[in-house]
Amino acid sequence: MRVSRLMLATLRDTPADAEIASHQLLARGGFIRRVSSGIYAYMPLMWRVLSKVINIVQKEMDEAGALQTLLPQLHPAELWEKSGRWKGYTAGEGIMFHLKDRQNRELGLGPTHEEVATSIIGEQIRSYKQLPINIYQIQTKFRDEIRPRFGLMRSREFIMKDAYSFHASEYDLQDTYYKMDKAYTNIFISCGIKTVKVDADSGSIGGAASQEFMVTADTGEDLILKSPDGNYAANIEKAISKASPPLTLKKQETIEVSTIDQKSIETLCKEQDIDSSQIVKVIVMVAILEEGKDQPLLISIRGDQEVNEVKLFNEITNELNCKILKLSFIKEEQLINQGLAPFPFGFIGPDFSDSALKNAKTWQNKFLRIIDLTAADLQNFVCGANIENKHRFHVNWSINKYPSKTIDIRKAKAGDLCIHDESQVLEECRGIEVGHIFQLGRKYSTSLKASFTNEEGIEESFWMGCYGIGISRLAQAAVEQNHDEKGIIWPISIAPFEVMISIANIQDPIQAALGEKIYKQLIPQGIEALIDDRNERAGVKFKDADLIGIPWRIVVGRDAPSGKIELIERAKAFNEVLDAKAAIKKLIEEISNQKTF
Ligand SMILES: Nc1ncnc2c1ncn2[C@@H]1O[C@H](COP(=O)(O)OP(=O)(O)O)[C@@H](O)[C@H]1O
Ligand SMILES: [Mg+2]
Repeated sequence: MRVSRLMLATLRDTPADAEIASHQLLARGGFIRRVSSGIYAYMPLMWRVLSKVINIVQKEMDEAGALQTLLPQLHPAELWEKSGRWKGYTAGEGIMFHLKDRQNRELGLGPTHEEVATSIIGEQIRSYKQLPINIYQIQTKFRDEIRPRFGLMRSREFIMKDAYSFHASEYDLQDTYYKMDKAYTNIFISCGIKTVKVDADSGSIGGAASQEFMVTADTGEDLILKSPDGNYAANIEKAISKASPPLTLKKQETIEVSTIDQKSIETLCKEQDIDSSQIVKVIVMVAILEEGKDQPLLISIRGDQEVNEVKLFNEITNELNCKILKLSFIKEEQLINQGLAPFPFGFIGPDFSDSALKNAKTWQNKFLRIIDLTAADLQNFVCGANIENKHRFHVNWSINKYPSKTIDIRKAKAGDLCIHDESQVLEECRGIEVGHIFQLGRKYSTSLKASFTNEEGIEESFWMGCYGIGISRLAQAAVEQNHDEKGIIWPISIAPFEVMISIANIQDPIQAALGEKIYKQLIPQGIEALIDDRNERAGVKFKDADLIGIPWRIVVGRDAPSGKIELIERAKAFNEVLDAKAAIKKLIEEISNQKTF
């Protein structure tokens, strides 16, 4: 390919909306063009990168036994109503673009394909003998993200590889899950990016086990906790840890203490000279339900700890066994709306009476009480006295007569000890989620009535797994991980071209001829070469070459009359003057060594 024919349009200035390096560099290098918020065109150089990622993914999926398909992007609402996801995905903060056809029928643009895949396989597969089946596709997904940002990282239209597997048993599902895990690891290695596999929350998709593959980068949207030895890593949403031990209060009789205006843990500790780990903090929230009366929550946790809202959300969903739209803190105006008397916020204890909820208009009249393990472990603590401006000191759990659920809802944090090995102190790092694998279980097959006949001749719902890779996000994440102040440094396996031949002065016939000769020798050898034949100053060409990040560069310049060129590796900024022939030989060797697939 010739740069003169490439429609290359590099920018000197960074587009105003590009906040992170990879977005800035892809935009400046002319790889992507913004069409609208979260909507991008992949320009020719970018399409070459994406195609390479796609090839790597296809090879590994095929090897793992998955079958490539292409499913529709227009999804009838009825399918999503059957799985119970239509409302949540289209109303309020739902991310599904949806529309009506000329017959006024509702359709959604596919953000993910569990419903479509399950219904198709459910219709086609009848017997355990036909299982397992794993289908995948590579296609554009649509998600009306609340905050599209960072270019291809969180866009509203993006390329995803998604796979759905169907099994006769949970054991068989686990087998495929591990195969896909292995395939994912291979894919990321082949793409030349470093990833960490982390335990993940299953989110709105639901299911038993789930893991994410994260590209570690300071600008990542996800927070990861990991042990220095690499044996434990989890998304903060899911992470568990051992909390630091609390300071103990000296045992004394229970007393009520006047704590005027000491509403916050911080002021209470300061005024009373106690440590926050000696306090049971109580948080009052309400779970807003899709249907039925909303459920008030009373959450107790150690004063020095924070609640992990994802864990809390999951536990409450399980407990109530119904769809929760969101959790929100109870505020004074909500109490007024419910026709309730004010709560003594800041002075509430774990035994706060249900009578506070009596006659609530649209709320249940009992709290769902949750006690975090850190709070439950305290035996002599400080907590609110359920009266304005008063706390109790030296109390224990005998104060709470209400049925309560004791579980882990604590946010693990850096500095906590690893649950599996207490010599490991957890560290924090940021990551970009490029892949996600789930053991879905039978949630979708049950709701969509997708079943097969088992060995005993009985109808049974499929066991299912699903597996995603953000193809376009991965390509940008590779840039986030591989760049310097001058531009991109593509890993060789996904670089748009492997070598750039820069002719310093195209008007010089000797330079032009040598450049062409090298180009013509490289192409038949299978080397993907780009030749910069533009009539531009050498400085401009070198700047562009650095920016677009082709891994190798041959500069044909002043030494052309003696048949010599400069060979430069972009990642190492190291240049060597070589005879053209020797350079070609070395280049071919180096490239074949570097390519891991
Ligand atoms: N808005 C987006 N823009 C680009 N890639 C995305 C976007 N949302 C998800 N992806 C990619 O698709 C993969 C599978 O998506 P999924 O796990 O369903 O998304 P999420 O974790 O956002 O619910 C993610 O691992 C990510 O790489
Ligand atoms: Mg995900």
